[in-house]
Amino acid sequence: MAKWFNAGLIIATVAFASCSEAQHETSATMGTTKKDWGEVDGKQVYLYTLTNKAGDVVTISNYGGTITSWISPDKNGNKSSIIIGFDSLSTYRQNPPYFGALVGRYGNRIGKAQFTLNGTTYKLAANNGPNSLHGGIKGFDKVVWDATVPDSTQPSITLKYLSKDGEEGYPGNLDVTVVYTLSDDDGLKIEYTATTDKATPVNLTNHSYFNLTGSVKNKILDHYLQIDADRYTPVDPTLIPTGELKAVKGTPFDFTTAKKIGQDFSAVPGGYDHNFVLNRKDSSLQKVATLSDSVSGRTLEVYTTEPGLQFYTGNFLDGKFTNHDGNPLLVNTALCMETQHFPDSPNKPDFPSTILEPGQTYHSITEYKLSVK
Ligand code: BGC
Repeated sequence: MAKWFNAGLIIATVAFASCSEAQHETSATMGTTKKDWGEVDGKQVYLYTLTNKAGDVVTISNYGGTITSWISPDKNGNKSSIIIGFDSLSTYRQNPPYFGALVGRYGNRIGKAQFTLNGTTYKLAANNGPNSLHGGIKGFDKVVWDATVPDSTQPSITLKYLSKDGEEGYPGNLDVTVVYTLSDDDGLKIEYTATTDKATPVNLTNHSYFNLTGSVKNKILDHYLQIDADRYTPVDPTLIPTGELKAVKGTPFDFTTAKKIGQDFSAVPGGYDHNFVLNRKDSSLQKVATLSDSVSGRTLEVYTTEPGLQFYTGNFLDGKFTNHDGNPLLVNTALCMETQHFPDSPNKPDFPSTILEPGQTYHSITEYKLSVK
């Protein structure tokens, strides 16, 4: 049976100690529970359930720090998950394309799978054509994180991972902490911190795929999206930015006012898979994107401290995996809004730096805020 952790729920712990799972399900009001979910690399994997006062439920595993679901009511009160995922660890072990996972040490691509830092050239695994994608062969999405449940008034979990010097070719022992918190007003906050003992690139993100209708029978091309970005980073045929920051005005990349994703879709060969340069004056937490869907009445706002947003329309989804709702994950059935620094920054001196130095602390916050009407 799942256990209760939050200090404020000690009474609940006692009350539920002898309850059946069914009673537990109906009684669950608020807090964080965990259950065994399997084993990877000799380490125990858990599935954590975060439930807020509003009754929204987010499940997160310490395998890859993966958000496996976010269940919320639509405008008719029907509950479904707006995040794509699976019910079993074994499916995540088949290497799906980063569904819900924490991505690191470097989210998105590094060109030609190498970079030079302080006179040394570091070679990475080329796991995406000639480039390195999402941290390499065994990135942060495929490792077991150490998880604890903080003594918090809100449902939350803290994940820690020590990425060793040389892991996947990157320099420095990188100590990473990620805290997921679900607020009562349906905000899912992800707070990342990291320190290192050698200079290294760091670019952490979460790779959740969303479909606000709750069913991947519906493509995301009917969702509306607004992104607060006047510019984007055009890419070469291998999806590495050319270095240009191009104005979106007059192009299919103009989402400065809410637009149906499908509106200009046919003018973007292969679909959207681009980094948007967010309009911002500083690195405070600010709203950068709003996604909405009229079928469910749901709206998802994205807040971040990051300078970029990778908008990806699930162009490579090929039906190999089946979502919670029993339907195949086909092309354009889900989309990602990955907050990040720009792809290939270690090779692009004009992009905001991703280099973390010893003595500095990497700190990044992203919040996805859900509402329904
Ligand atoms: C990338 C895509 C990639 C997807 C899944 C996105 O962040 O931009 O090109 O296919 O992740 O790996």
